[in-house]
Amino acid sequence: MSLLTITKLTASVGAEVTGLDPGRLGPGDPTGQAVLDALEDNGVLVFRGLRLAPEAQVDFCRLLGEVDHSADGHHPVAGIYPISLNPAKNSSAEILKATFDWHIDGCTPLDDECPQKATVLSAVRVAEWGGETEFANSYAAYDELTDEEKERFGSLRVVHSLEASQRRAHPDAGPEQVARWRSRRTHEHPLVWTHRSGRKSLVLGASADYVVGMDLDEGRALLQDLLERATGPDKVYSHEWSVGDTVIWDNRGVLHRAAPYDPASQREMLRTTVLGDEPIR
Ligand code: OGA
Ligand code: MN
Repeated sequence: MSLLTITKLTASVGAEVTGLDPGRLGPGDPTGQAVLDALEDNGVLVFRGLRLAPEAQVDFCRLLGEVDHSADGHHPVAGIYPISLNPAKNSSAEILKATFDWHIDGCTPLDDECPQKATVLSAVRVAEWGGETEFANSYAAYDELTDEEKERFGSLRVVHSLEASQRRAHPDAGPEQVARWRSRRTHEHPLVWTHRSGRKSLVLGASADYVVGMDLDEGRALLQDLLERATGPDKVYSHEWSVGDTVIWDNRGVLHRAAPYDPASQREMLRTTVLGDEPIR
C-alpha cells in the first residue's frame, strides 16, 4: 500500500498526488480505492514524473476497475491506446482532432455502454509548444447554476452525436465522411446527470448537438453559454506535461480538452481507460 499525499491545484478541480509507488502495488491493493476516492473529490489527479511503463499503467488501472480493451490493436501492450496526431503512430489520428474541443469521453458509444469511469494518460513525448490538457469540473458547473436554472434545466434532454463532435473539428468534411459519422447512432442524455452518489453534474461538450423540443439555435446557444460558464479561465486546471507525468481524470465529473499544438509535433501520450458502470440519467 502507498501512503498518498494530496494537494489541491485549483479551488474547483485537480490535485497533485505524491507517495504513489506503482512498483509496490499488488492486485487488490487498497491504494486503488484511495485513488478512486481522491478522484471523486478532486476530478483530476496529477502524478508528476511517475515514469510508469505501459504494462505498469494497465496494472495500475486494474486497481481502479475493469480496463477498457475496445481500442486495443494500436499499441503492442493490450489496454494502451496511443494519443498522437501522427498517423504512423495512430491510424485513427484524424478522429483525435476533436479532442481540441471541450468534451466528456464516451457520450456517443457504439451501443449503450456507459461513459468511461476514469482515463489515465501518461506523457511519452511532449509538444514543443501547447499541448496542455485542460480540465473543468462539471459538478461545479451544475452547483453554480441559480436555483431557477437548476429547476428549469432539470428536465432538459440533449441529443449527442459523433457527427456534432467531428463536424466542429472537420468543418469541411465531404458527404461520405459525414455519412460515416451519421452511421453511428445518436444518444439522448439529460442535461443534468444525477449520479449514484446523489451529486449532480452538467453533461456538455462537443458531442452535445441540440436540446430536445427547443428551437435549434436557442438550444445550441444555451449549450454554448453553459459550456463557457463551466470552462472560464478561473475554472480550469491546465496540465503542462513533462515526460513521465501521469494524469487521471474522473470522466464522469470533468470536461477536458487538449490545448492546440503543432500538428507535426511528435507529442505522444499513452492512454488507458477504466470502464464505467454508471449510465447518464
Ligand atoms: C483523451 C483526450 C486530450 C489530450 O485522451 O480522451 O481527450 O490532451 N486527450 O491528449
Ligand atoms: Mn477525451
